[in-house]
Amino acid sequence: MTPYAILGTGDVAKSLARGLRGLGHPVMLAGRDAAKTAATLADFAGETGSQTGSYAQAAAFGQTVVLAVKGHAAAAVLDAAGSALNGKLLIDATNPIEDATPEHGVLRFFTGPNDSLGERLQQAFPSLRIVKAFNTVGAAHFVQPRFAGGPGSMFIAGNDAEAKAEVAALVRAFGWEPYDCGRIEGARATEPLCQLWCLPGLLRGDWAHAFKVIAP
Ligand SMILES: NC(=O)c1ccc[n+]([C@@H]2O[C@H](COP(=O)([O-])OP(=O)(O)OC[C@H]3O[C@@H](n4cnc5c(N)ncnc54)[C@H](OP(=O)(O)O)[C@@H]3O)[C@@H](O)[C@H]2O)c1
Repeated sequence: MTPYAILGTGDVAKSLARGLRGLGHPVMLAGRDAAKTAATLADFAGETGSQTGSYAQAAAFGQTVVLAVKGHAAAAVLDAAGSALNGKLLIDATNPIEDATPEHGVLRFFTGPNDSLGERLQQAFPSLRIVKAFNTVGAAHFVQPRFAGGPGSMFIAGNDAEAKAEVAALVRAFGWEPYDCGRIEGARATEPLCQLWCLPGLLRGDWAHAFKVIAP
């Protein structure tokens, strides 16, 4: 079993924590204020058998780390997690969403087309083995989703082949087919899929869908 640190307390953090606990992995979730996080997540932690802590405590606890915070806070959260992160596999589920009203159902990003949050984080934290994943579908569908047409594609991107293999195995255990998008620059292509995934939801309240790559 692998101890997982989850930096985050929202829907993504809770969905992945539930899935990881279901596979038997120890999990610690973390927020900005450890006491507030413990109080807010008391029921969830009790129900799932998860622990809670500060970012630094979670970073020390986790052999693998998940980043599941608002995109604009991602770098600051990794800073706060500190040196215990060094060398670890970081699953980056974040998207670079601006705090702004979507335009006709299209979320605004603070990155451009030849850039991505995944790359920015990898450049700022070179010791981390970052794998972008779980950012192209809603958190409600992360674990054993039931879509017509079989397993959807979970897009993964990162520079470290071993780290990607570990994430691919986790993705499969959650009922998805991993789809390798190459090095971390692949995040330039996968992060905007969040805009496409959210568009039907923001336009007409349809949040039940996923992407699947099909081939002859
Ligand atoms: N929701 C989805 O279905 C979904 C799916 C795929 C990817 N994503 C991406 O995954 C990430 C997490 O999404 P989410 O919906 O679970 O949560 P969220 O509402 O986007 O973010 C909440 C989390 O961000 C943390 N945070 C840290 N510093 C912050 C700051 N300065 N300002 C605001 N929040 C801060 C919060 O910590 P505290 O607990 O201390 O408040 C909390 O854990 C996002 O980047 C999102 O774009 C979301």
